[in-house]
This record gives sequence, C-alpha cells and structure tokens, in this order.
Amino acid sequence: MQSKQISYIRTITDFEPEIAIILGSGLGDFANELKIEAVIDYKDIPDMPVSTAPSHKGRLVFGYLGEKKIVIMQGRVHLYEGYTTQQTALPIRVLRDLGVSTLILTNAAGGINKNLNIGDFMLIKDHISCFIDSPLIGKNEEEYGCRFPDMSNVYDKDLRKAIKKIAYENNICLNEGVYVQLKGPQFETPSEIKMLSALGADAVGMSTVAEAITAVHCSMKVCAISMISNMACGIYDTPLSSDDVTQATSKCAPTFSKLINEIVKAI
Ligand code: HPA
Repeated sequence: MQSKQISYIRTITDFEPEIAIILGSGLGDFANELKIEAVIDYKDIPDMPVSTAPSHKGRLVFGYLGEKKIVIMQGRVHLYEGYTTQQTALPIRVLRDLGVSTLILTNAAGGINKNLNIGDFMLIKDHISCFIDSPLIGKNEEEYGCRFPDMSNVYDKDLRKAIKKIAYENNICLNEGVYVQLKGPQFETPSEIKMLSALGADAVGMSTVAEAITAVHCSMKVCAISMISNMACGIYDTPLSSDDVTQATSKCAPTFSKLINEIVKAI
C-alpha cells in the first residue's frame, strides 16, 4: 500500500530518483548543482518530521545531476530536536518508496583521530551505534526488511573502493574511519571523547548512523562522508562552537561538491 507521504509527493511530481543525497550541516548549498525538476518542503508532506536545526532548509529537491536522477534531502532531522530514531527513519523509507537504491549520506563531524585535520573528508567505513536507540525498535516493517538485519557491510565495500579511487584521481584527500553517533545537542566532554577514542571511533557527530541502519534494513546501498568541521572536545585546548562547524563546512564546499559530483557520475 502506498504511504501517505508518497501519495502526497506523487501529486506534485512523478520523478523517480535512483540516488538520494542527504546534506549535512553547512553542506545544503550542494542542491544548487541540480537541474531542478521539483522542490517539496517537508512541512507539506503528511507526518514528515521537519528540520528545526539552523542551516537545515528542510526540503526535498528532485532533479538531474548530469544524466543521473537524484533526490536531495536538503536538511535532516536529529534526535536532539526531540525526534525518536523511529521518526528519523521515516524519510529514509520515503526515499526507498520513491525508488532510490543508493543513498549518499553526508555530515559535519568532530575529529577524534589526531591524524585528521579540520577541513578533511572522512569516508565512513563503519559506525558505532550503541549510544542511540535503534531506528528498527518496535514492530518490524516486513515490507522493508527482516527483523535482524546484518550490519557487516553497512557502508558498501565496492562503493567505498570506487569513492577512494575517485578521490585519488581528483587529488582530494580522503581519510577512512569509524563514525560514532551521539544524541547531542551538547558537544562531548573531553572524558567522553577519550572513551570514544578507546572504543575505536575516529569522528563523532549527531546524525547519519540511524539513517544508515534504516537504509541497510530496506536493502539500499549506502555510503557516507564526514567533513571534519572541528577537532572533538579535548583533542586540542579550544572550546567548541557551532559557528566553527558552519565556517569550516562553507570553506570546504567547493571540494565537497567536486567529490559528490564525481561519485554520482560513477554510481
Ligand atoms: N561533536 C558532535 N557533533 C559534531 C561535532 C562534534 O565535535 N562537530 C560537528 N558535529
């Protein structure tokens, strides 16, 4: 049965995207790269959670990037906005129902691994999800996937290989590492960062993991890229502010655009 979100979207556009891109904090302007076919505000879609975070526009942008049919989520919803992980799962299932088979997730993150620098990109190779509720808690939605989905290849190995090659060929420095999602909204303490480092996390943020789990559950191919907007609390002796995050992301926007453009071409 068609969900009410899809029924509404189909009154506006019959565009069938194959690839979805979720744009993180400060990275929303990438949507301007599309040859736009339709734009729909989340607030107009029935029961769709609406972004309240600064710099998250909160709309679906449908269009072409080259030949490829894309839908962009220009802004996402976070647990710190008061949404449950199950609510953050809904937009991912909407993307699936629209026909999306590959999901590109992006975010701004704090670097924990000292080999990372502000402005670097990190391809996520795995995640730590145990500080958030699973988006799959509750009755299993059988039409999307199984009760106990495998998580051994969340960030698709072949896609990661292709992305590393693209970065190398385009002279873009791309690290690879493990991302941990916390709930926020407060930044972490130095002791929390020490703990996360001991657990094997290279970067920390407040998004992405719940979305990736939902996407894998419904058999989408997933890749994710963090933009290191700051070093995590306690790595260096500087207090953190959300302004640093937005400043760093806007500085890196041109390289980010280049990387995503090339990735889409290769998918
Ligand atoms: N911690 C958590 N989330 C973040 C950070 C951070 O240091 N930077 C950007 N998002």
